[in-house]
Amino acid sequence: MSDLIEGFLGKSVEGKKSRIPAKLDYFQSATGLFLGLFMWGHMFFVSTILISKDFMYMITKMFEGSMIFAEPKPGLVSFIVFIVFAVFIVHALLGMRKLPINFRQYQAYRTHTTMMKHDDTTMWLTQAFTGFAMFFLGSAHLLMMMVKADTIGPYGSADRMYSDVMWPFYLILLLAVEFHGGIGLYRLCVKWGWFEGEDAKVSRKKLKTVKWAITGFFLVLGLLTLAAYVKIGYEHRNNAGEAYKPTAQIQMQYDVKVRA
Ligand code: HEM
Repeated sequence: MSDLIEGFLGKSVEGKKSRIPAKLDYFQSATGLFLGLFMWGHMFFVSTILISKDFMYMITKMFEGSMIFAEPKPGLVSFIVFIVFAVFIVHALLGMRKLPINFRQYQAYRTHTTMMKHDDTTMWLTQAFTGFAMFFLGSAHLLMMMVKADTIGPYGSADRMYSDVMWPFYLILLLAVEFHGGIGLYRLCVKWGWFEGEDAKVSRKKLKTVKWAITGFFLVLGLLTLAAYVKIGYEHRNNAGEAYKPTAQIQMQYDVKVRA
């Protein structure tokens, strides 16, 4: 009965409002923090291609458990992707609650942003827009990584970018991720009062500078990485689909042949 009253009036019999929205906000922040920090690690992993193909290959095999098992197991990567995908879906579901669902709500938001000229309020639209784009692009990427984990590698990833013409997809995803992640982590700090010094205005300004520096850094790193994969994919276009063999392995085969 009390659920029924709260359902109709938005307040319990005692006149209290539900705590569920606050809990959902908490989970949205927690999943966002997990994904934001994950993305920093992810960008460093993917950008190992800038050091060398062998290094990227080694890191890929490490995620496939090369240090524990005799044979690498791409299934391990699929399992990690599955966990990240689950968190991603929960985060997107929770984020959806905040999107304007009709023109009237959107109009009210626009009026506020025009009147207030407040950066953080304006940033929210970027956050909502990039979040919406990532709903589709992020899901497609995660699904691809989950079912094709065995193709991840210097040639596999580069062929996907160039021969499978996935680079425009990754370019849009990269822009969406970096803006969404940067704003998201900044908003988390403001919302929960992290790094708040004596003067909230001064610390907010500092946070914003750090936010732009981090976004800039990951955008440059991401674009260089994308360019490196496209270049390798272009050079490897006639043998697209062929798996990468690390230099040491080729050297060993060569030595054996020469000796024989
Ligand atoms: C465990 C989960 C993930 C794995 C294993 C993974 C793996 C990879 C790999 C191997 C690449 C290189 C291109 C390729 O092989 O297709 C890549 C690129 C990329 N991924 Fe992920 N990814 C994961 C999660 C995510 C998530 C959650 C996002 C954001 C929604 C994301 C965004 C990107 C972007 C933007 C690029 C392009 C980076 C660049 O070119 O600089 N990834 N990912």
